[in-house]
Amino acid sequence: MAFFTPRVVLASLLALPVALGLGTPKTCSNPPLSCSTSTSSDLCCLNSPGGQLLQTQFWDTSPSTGPSNSWTIHGLWPDHCDGTYDSNCDTSRAYTNITEILKSFDKTDLLDYMNKYWLDENGDNESFWEHEWGKHGTCISTLEPSCYTDYTATQEVPDFFQKTVDLFKTLDSYTALANAGITPSSSKTYTSAAILAALKKSFGYEVIIQCASGALDEIWYSYDVRGSVVTGDFVATDPDGSKSNCAASGIKYLPKSGGGTGTTSTKTPTTSTSTPTGTGSFSGTGYLNAVTGGSQTGCLISSGNWYTSGTCATYTAAASGSGFTLKSSKGPCGISSSAFTCASGTTATVFTAKGGLLSYNGDTTFYAAAVPSGSTQESISTSSKSVSVSFQWQSL
Ligand SMILES: *[C@@H]1O[C@H](CO)[C@@H](O)[C@H](O)[C@H]1NC(C)=O
Ligand SMILES: *[C@@H]1O[C@H](CO)[C@@H](O)[C@H](O)[C@H]1NC(C)=O
Repeated sequence: MAFFTPRVVLASLLALPVALGLGTPKTCSNPPLSCSTSTSSDLCCLNSPGGQLLQTQFWDTSPSTGPSNSWTIHGLWPDHCDGTYDSNCDTSRAYTNITEILKSFDKTDLLDYMNKYWLDENGDNESFWEHEWGKHGTCISTLEPSCYTDYTATQEVPDFFQKTVDLFKTLDSYTALANAGITPSSSKTYTSAAILAALKKSFGYEVIIQCASGALDEIWYSYDVRGSVVTGDFVATDPDGSKSNCAASGIKYLPKSGGGTGTTSTKTPTTSTSTPTGTGSFSGTGYLNAVTGGSQTGCLISSGNWYTSGTCATYTAAASGSGFTLKSSKGPCGISSSAFTCASGTTATVFTAKGGLLSYNGDTTFYAAAVPSGSTQESISTSSKSVSVSFQWQSL
């Protein structure tokens, strides 16, 4: 029976901060860059021997996982600084309740994101996360329990998964490839050199690509870390010795089938026989991908709001006057009282394209109060707010 006396209420309020109370990662003053030295006695401030951290990504097509316009997460791997690596470093911390652990730290946004972008081919995401944590995560020296002051059991787990997701969000492989005209196709093939050059152009350093059955299926991005994985700086770098295994030419980059994932999709692209043909001019149907701070981050959903966790809405662009109009399943899109809105009854605004970006009155910069994250949406405005954002068309 639920009968809360004031004292019970007070007790539960007091219990809350304790339940969420976390130890803090040890402070590192002036830590060395991993792989630049092996002489540090403090492996809480230097990742060693696993000093090169690889953010690895999948392109699964058989079966397909994840959105059809995004790579998915494989993991975060601590390689030695020569391409070799340790695995399964601490079986006592090979937890088999990753989902429960993340929930216990109130990481539901992170879990939602992982259920869209960190997927097991066979749908057993929890097992896949357990594998990635147990095999690789437990080998990260700076995530050892002894590296936290007032360690709270399992708190290194949300740190590991959050850091991996945060890195992944900065590494939009799909757009990096699409910007070089490398888009999924059941007939086209590409050369290793073209794929590697496109990824290097966006990342700044060489990456590693992996192929299976002649088709591109993995990308590995390398970092050295100054300090701990939780609080340190990730410094992009060339690979430490691992190698690409793709053929020089004739590489397939197959379309994902289905496309939709997850449970909170706002609009799942349903069709079809059509495959993405890359970013391009605003015509036909496409996604409006958001670009902020130099990287692609989410897209617009059918209301015209900006979202980073759902499936992009399909927009239709139709030539009009000296530009084009846009509409989504909600209706025509227009600027009204500085807000970008798509709804029935909205008067369609004529937009133009400038440098491949959506432009309104000659200006390609739009604004939002914040970069959306988790299940938060942000409205788009033409009047100045803290975050600047532009929109790229991705033809479908
Ligand atoms: C997860 O499993 C570990 C080890 O078995 C246990 O100590 C911990 O309490 C569990 N955490 C949650 C939130 O269930
Ligand atoms: C794993 O993710 C897939 C794809 O989003 C989803 O369909 C499936 O329900 C998830 N599995 C679990 C056990 O949550």
